[in-house]
Amino acid sequence: MNSSSLRDRQAQGLFFTWSAQGSTRGMEVVDAKGAQFQLADGRWVWDLESQVYNVNAGHQHPHIKARMIEQINTLPACAPNAVLEIRATLGELLSKKTGLTKSFLTCGGSEAVENAIKIARLVTGRSKVLARRHSYHGASLAVLGVSGDPRRAPFERDLQESYLIDDPFPHPPTAAGAPSAWLASFDALLERVGADSVAAVLLEGFTGTNGMQEPPADFWPGVRARCDAHGIMLIDDEIFSGFGRTGRWFAAEHWGVRPDMMTVGKGLTSGYAPLAGVVVNEPIASHFEDHKLWCGLTHYAHPVSCAAAVGSIEAIEADGLVPLAAQVGAALRSGLEEMAARYPGVVRVLGRGMMLGVVLDRPAAALVEQGWARDLYIPSREDTVFICPPLCLGREGAGEILSRVDAAMTAAGLDVAAAQ
Ligand SMILES: Cc1ncc(COP(=O)(O)O)c(C=O)c1O
Repeated sequence: MNSSSLRDRQAQGLFFTWSAQGSTRGMEVVDAKGAQFQLADGRWVWDLESQVYNVNAGHQHPHIKARMIEQINTLPACAPNAVLEIRATLGELLSKKTGLTKSFLTCGGSEAVENAIKIARLVTGRSKVLARRHSYHGASLAVLGVSGDPRRAPFERDLQESYLIDDPFPHPPTAAGAPSAWLASFDALLERVGADSVAAVLLEGFTGTNGMQEPPADFWPGVRARCDAHGIMLIDDEIFSGFGRTGRWFAAEHWGVRPDMMTVGKGLTSGYAPLAGVVVNEPIASHFEDHKLWCGLTHYAHPVSCAAAVGSIEAIEADGLVPLAAQVGAALRSGLEEMAARYPGVVRVLGRGMMLGVVLDRPAAALVEQGWARDLYIPSREDTVFICPPLCLGREGAGEILSRVDAAMTAAGLDVAAAQ
């Protein structure tokens, strides 16, 4: 079967996500290895999106596959509250890695954030959830209404009221000793909505496709202090930034802050099976010893997904992918900064570890196209391209990517600034 007829057959019966159907080609992927995937025409392409920012351990990792196959052969389906070795192991691993106590597992990230919000409301008896304007926390109606992501626009009329922290970037200057614009906006919002009505503050550990902004130094510690003062739950959404993506197990570690709850997904299983969750601290876990946890799902803690998560966490650990992401990410970033100095069309480089962005002075489409012509699969949004390969990329792979990005920048005409 040739690739265009397979595409048409699939498009007949299945939707593509986030797109007008007629204009979406869809890639026919036949194989993958490490930081690359192969197309039906035989080309091997560098995966700068890690599929959907989730294949952290790399493609076709033998240990993750072995863990899953072992679970399929042992017991592939089981009721949510059944007690299984693989579930106990995953619970222990999540507690150890996050420094928190107990996890509630879901099928995807949006559900994880919804359940974190439910838990915050159950524990505090309050309703409001504050989030940053430039953030994304999922596609379901409840969580679309919490952040300022543009994907909320078609549903705006029916969403709950949202409470957004202004987060201008680059950071506007502030007077010496004064709080940053982000923290000042947070303080003003707390004052306006009434701190004692706020159940939770929901922040991405490090912002993904909403801009990869470096937060001001006072933001995370300032939010933590205010949450403590007012009995507000701090939820750290590590669905994108977790499992080594930023060169630490979880991005909030960069700011030295411990949240009350953490949401995890994507890299939790490296995308080998759907699984996400919310991990809570000891006081929240204890609360539910004698209060009912009003949360549950048919596919809760699916055994094969749990095996994928255990396999992925073990692979990230055994392969040393967290320090590797920090080192290789630093090399990628300095290579990109060197290009920013040479290409007038590059405005700035953003990010940490293997979670990098390059902001251009024009729409990113031409650079994406020139990258594709050089076997680079580059995700983008408006004027920004994202460089988020699997963490196993290594120095040699980073050098390969940098030289192709350099050539793509020349071909895209970034050596001349965009006309104003
Ligand atoms: C920070 C963050 N939170 C939540 C989600 C939603 O996760 P999912 O797409 O698995 O529902 C995403 C997905 O991109 C995300 O990046």
